[in-house]
Amino acid sequence: MAEPVLSLSGLRVEFETIDGMTPAVAGIDLTVHRGETVAIVGESGSGKSQAMMAAMGLLATNGRASGRADFGGVNLIGLPKAQLNEIRGRKITMIFQEPMTSLDPLYRIGDQLIEPIRRHQGLGARQARARAVEMLRLVRIPDAERRMRSYPHELSGGQRQRVMIAMALANDPEILIADEPTTALDVTIQAEILELMADLQKRLGMAMVFITHDLNIVRRIAHRVYVMRKGEVVEEGPTAQIFAAPRHAYTRDLIEAEPEGRKPPVPSGVPVMLDGRNIDVTFALGGGLFRAPQLLKAVDGVTVRLRQGQTVGIVGESGSASRRWRALCCGCCQARARSGSRIATSPILAGPRCSHCGAGCRS
Ligand SMILES: Nc1ncnc2c1ncn2[C@@H]1O[C@H](COP(=O)(O)OP(=O)(O)OP(=O)(O)O)[C@@H](O)[C@H]1O
Ligand SMILES: [Mg+2]
Repeated sequence: MAEPVLSLSGLRVEFETIDGMTPAVAGIDLTVHRGETVAIVGESGSGKSQAMMAAMGLLATNGRASGRADFGGVNLIGLPKAQLNEIRGRKITMIFQEPMTSLDPLYRIGDQLIEPIRRHQGLGARQARARAVEMLRLVRIPDAERRMRSYPHELSGGQRQRVMIAMALANDPEILIADEPTTALDVTIQAEILELMADLQKRLGMAMVFITHDLNIVRRIAHRVYVMRKGEVVEEGPTAQIFAAPRHAYTRDLIEAEPEGRKPPVPSGVPVMLDGRNIDVTFALGGGLFRAPQLLKAVDGVTVRLRQGQTVGIVGESGSASRRWRALCCGCCQARARSGSRIATSPILAGPRCSHCGAGCRS
């Protein structure tokens, strides 16, 4: 086995709350080796994210960490901020569960990518810009040059997640901590991103800590798995062994809880609650006093019909506008959808109340 790059031992996290000090991580041990992918799985609230946030020195102000997080002979817990900043963003990078945690809404995507590349790699402005565009292309952001000038709110959720992945990989880190990095991505792009990470791992010996609820991804990419519950690691082992012969009852429950089967179809006589026809959404980008804005058609003639008690799935690649047209289907969400700029909608015929938005929503 290669040498360990990050070792957590007896790592504890507590939060000061109105009920006093509340434990979130109860003294866990975890090791990741060079070139290895370790997955952390477990129920929501079990301490997966906070364990890694503690190792990065990124706990909320009411959080306290103790124990050890050894990286390159240094314990990261309690390390002064200046020393942590030498390591974070360069040697250890993190893809956060919520993309807006690491994207500043006030700065353009390009500037946010270029700044850490310049700081950590000492590149000039032109070279850093070229590297930033290259990274956006690698994570399959369409029209990367133009996107460098976009603000985070102008991107879809999946595109924002990919920008964050580009930021995390731009400096060839020794460890990548990825917290649910592919949840907002469609399966084709998800597969490409996982391949990109695997390629970096092979090329640079990058180690990866992958936090996810998706056991299929765990099966595919992880060498070893840690199972967490209520702040503790209840089981750890090689991936094949964890899936084939789980020892802990909770691990067995987790594996057995993977969804199976199909939903029965809704009978045809059930009333239609939402009948949307030829829905268009157009955004006006840029433009000024003497310049016409560029029109971006985000939704183009979508028709959808939803019957009472029916669930419809909207699938498609990241940036294919599912969020936009979902917003349009609900009267109460129109104001939000309109905030981009200009919207052209076709009439939506619907029932008296929108079940998606709940009380008070008029379709
Ligand atoms: N700032 C905070 N103040 C108080 N408690 C917090 C704070 N941040 C997190 N917690 C608590 O810490 C516990 C662990 O949270 P954590 O984010 O690590 O869960 P998780 O395993 O990543 O869950 P999920 O799968 O939902 O992301 C939770 O009970 C959560 O409520
Ligand atoms: Mg989490």
